[in-house]
Amino acid sequence: MRIDILTIHPELLKSPFKHSILSRAIDSKLVHIELHDIRSYSNDKHKRVDDYQFGGGAGMVMTIQPIADCIEKLKNERKYDAIIYMTPDGERLEQSISNHFSCFKNIIILCGHYKGVDQRIRDHYITHEISIGDYVLTGGELGAAVLCDSIIRLIPGVISDETSALTDSFQDNLLAPPVYTRPANYNGWEVSEILLSGHQQKIEDWRQAQALERTEEKRPDLLDKKD
Ligand code: ADE
Repeated sequence: MRIDILTIHPELLKSPFKHSILSRAIDSKLVHIELHDIRSYSNDKHKRVDDYQFGGGAGMVMTIQPIADCIEKLKNERKYDAIIYMTPDGERLEQSISNHFSCFKNIIILCGHYKGVDQRIRDHYITHEISIGDYVLTGGELGAAVLCDSIIRLIPGVISDETSALTDSFQDNLLAPPVYTRPANYNGWEVSEILLSGHQQKIEDWRQAQALERTEEKRPDLLDKKD
């Protein structure tokens, strides 16, 4: 998978891909991330990428030209399955959306700033608008990092034990069950006998019951979505 990220702060997006699972995914060529500095595409002599809103009002708007030129260049090089805009008024990110995107070959992610981008970019290029939650960030970069992380870990081969991604919270609209490791008894805090029994079917049944109980308690709304 290839992900092209358009940003006015490329430095901000370097670190999330430098560590642990994401950096290993990049090193083993399961994913290729390319950061594009929108400012470097600006035809303005001061390399400006924003301007005042038509009609007045507080806040600047990201201009069309540098973003359009960057997207056009990329589209001439390869076919894209999605051009995603990170914005607080987008569709709220959920596991099902990440699952869907993880099947794509090439995607572009545009990070918004200020009051956002000129609406014509959204009308003519953007295929999906994504929000990572009902709060406003200073820009789309952190949202883009969250989106990339949630997609990349689903690419086959990225997580060594593939079943582990399938048993994540939200994959079946249930929260994940509690997990334990050694010691089985820590100063009197004990682990359920079932987990130590070696009886795989009983362990699975116990985990399923715990996942249901946890979901009922913490996120009953998820149960309404369950088929
Ligand atoms: N940009 C600013 N706030 C955002 C949010 N909540 N999600 C995605 N992009 C954003």
